[in-house]
Amino acid sequence: TTPIISRTQRELRGQLAEWRGSGDRIAFVPTMGALHEGHLSLVRLARKKAERVIVSIFVNPTQFAPGEDLEAYPRTEAADSEKLAAEGVDLIYIPLPNSMYNAHHATAIKVGGVATGLETDHRPTFFDGVALVVTKLFNRVQPDVAIFGEKDYQQLATIRRLVEDLDMPIHIIGAPIARDEYGLALSSRNQYFNAQSLAKARQLNTIMFDCAESMERGANVDRAAEDAAQALLDAGFSGVDYVQVRSKNSLTVLEGGVLNKPARLLIAAHCDGVRLIDNCAVNVK
Ligand code: PAJ
Repeated sequence: TTPIISRTQRELRGQLAEWRGSGDRIAFVPTMGALHEGHLSLVRLARKKAERVIVSIFVNPTQFAPGEDLEAYPRTEAADSEKLAAEGVDLIYIPLPNSMYNAHHATAIKVGGVATGLETDHRPTFFDGVALVVTKLFNRVQPDVAIFGEKDYQQLATIRRLVEDLDMPIHIIGAPIARDEYGLALSSRNQYFNAQSLAKARQLNTIMFDCAESMERGANVDRAAEDAAQALLDAGFSGVDYVQVRSKNSLTVLEGGVLNKPARLLIAAHCDGVRLIDNCAVNVK
């Protein structure tokens, strides 16, 4: 069966009321479209968590800074809808571009703690935009469960914080990172790459996993992170925004660089004009 496509809150609400009336739970996967296997793996997980699955597609302007790729961001609605139909999605919510923020919009949401540092050092208003749009989407969809990828690890931690702090009755589930056959984390922005740049981009995950492994074997954490940053530059990355190890859940800096609790290695680096992020577990042995 083909998914219902809703573009207005009215249509969405009508459908939600019907499903809720028959006792169906709702799992929600928010996206910005340009869907790939990473997004679809979230959808498959959603299927297992509830009777009904809703996927939203909205390229959210408030999370793009001036000079970022808001206009260039790939928009592939027809292909996205086909992929979602093949996954048995019940409803695709595609809010009309002007319906999310009207001219009078004046409310902001600012998450501290986990949302500070890392991405925020380089994209200062990014999580404000994400927290705002996710809150609005949650209020519109009112899901029981929502799925986010570990690909955007700090985003996932930020959403968990937001939901707990603002008493949103929504169960947040994290999904593992989907990678291509060379380990490159799938991303809608990978389609900006030509073959040569793609080969370069694929070195990021190798450098990251090597770095995590050497930390697990007892290397000094700060030293290993510095070495990984240098390895990225040597591989032809034009800049490294960060290579950092943080505690797994609260994303706090490890005291004295000592790996004494489960941690996460997080990286952001620039490859031929595309900003890549990736992360992996660093376990205490
Ligand atoms: P977008 O980049 O489209 O990603 C939508 C969801 O897919 C996010 O939860 C993201 O972490 C997940 N995802 C992307 N690539 C993945 C991969 N390779 N493996 C696993 N999961 C992956 O993230 C956003 O959109 C936006 O910030 C959004 C939350 C929709 C708010 O606008």
